[in-house]
Amino acid sequence: MDLNNKTLVVTGVSSGIGAELARLARFCGATVIGVDRNEPQLTLDGFFKADLGDPQAIDTLLGQLPDSVDGLCNVAGVPGTAPLATVARVNYLGLRHLSQGLLPRMAPGSSIVNVASVLGGEWPQRLELHKALAATDSYATGQHWLEANPVDPATCYQYFKEALIVWTFQQSQHWFRDHGVRLNCVAPGPVATPILGDFVTMLGEERIARDASRMVRPALADEVAAVITFLCADASRWVNGVNLPVDGGLAATYL
Ligand SMILES: NC(=O)c1ccc[n+]([C@@H]2O[C@H](COP(=O)([O-])OP(=O)(O)OC[C@H]3O[C@@H](n4cnc5c(N)ncnc54)[C@H](O)[C@@H]3O)[C@@H](O)[C@H]2O)c1
Repeated sequence: MDLNNKTLVVTGVSSGIGAELARLARFCGATVIGVDRNEPQLTLDGFFKADLGDPQAIDTLLGQLPDSVDGLCNVAGVPGTAPLATVARVNYLGLRHLSQGLLPRMAPGSSIVNVASVLGGEWPQRLELHKALAATDSYATGQHWLEANPVDPATCYQYFKEALIVWTFQQSQHWFRDHGVRLNCVAPGPVATPILGDFVTMLGEERIARDASRMVRPALADEVAAVITFLCADASRWVNGVNLPVDGGLAATYL
């Protein structure tokens, strides 16, 4: 995959999928600027430490990032074992805020890739709610909407991955038309990264056993990174507004 002459911002770069993505993207020729709340454990072309759930921290980060970028990979995320407010801020509100802030610096041909999840697959069941949240145009208005429309903490991870997929679909229409910037999601199934254990706690042994019986194995982080790399490359220039499963076929077994 050719990423020469592309500058990519990769969030969640200090672990799991984000780290594998940064490694692969650099190998493919990209200049990779990483962002995480933790220090990275690999060589990057630049790194900024930031809390991606905090709008002020994101504004500071926007002041530090390059004037021109060709891709944004929103990989950072927390599991549903984190407090609901943290899940909302990191997995949805902050991701939107960073994407909106970087959009003006992205030339036509740029790409934004959001890491959703197989657990966001039930978005059609709550479509009107997700569309209403997507219609809020800022971090603050999104937060107010969530105060008025409370989310069940037990399923907040699934809720905000669903919301992310719907927001991606909606933004992809006019960000591509008006700016030439593509916007897609990948939806991994279980991936062997440090947060996999949290998903076991979050979903319970029974659900995990059921999914395990339908799966060959969990993905390795580099198998997800390869698909994100493709979505950042010009080879995928006509792929826009999709939620691409990277789950070894798990979602297809839910029929
Ligand atoms: N591992 C899985 O089974 C799985 C499955 C589906 C989707 N996902 C999604 O993939 C993405 C990456 O997860 P992973 O499996 O690589 O997990 P991980 O825990 O290995 O990596 C997540 C990274 O995000 C960073 N991060 C978390 N909160 C942050 C914050 N507030 N500010 C800045 N950085 C923050 C962490 O420090 C970490 O480096 C997440 O969005 C997750 O929801 C993971």
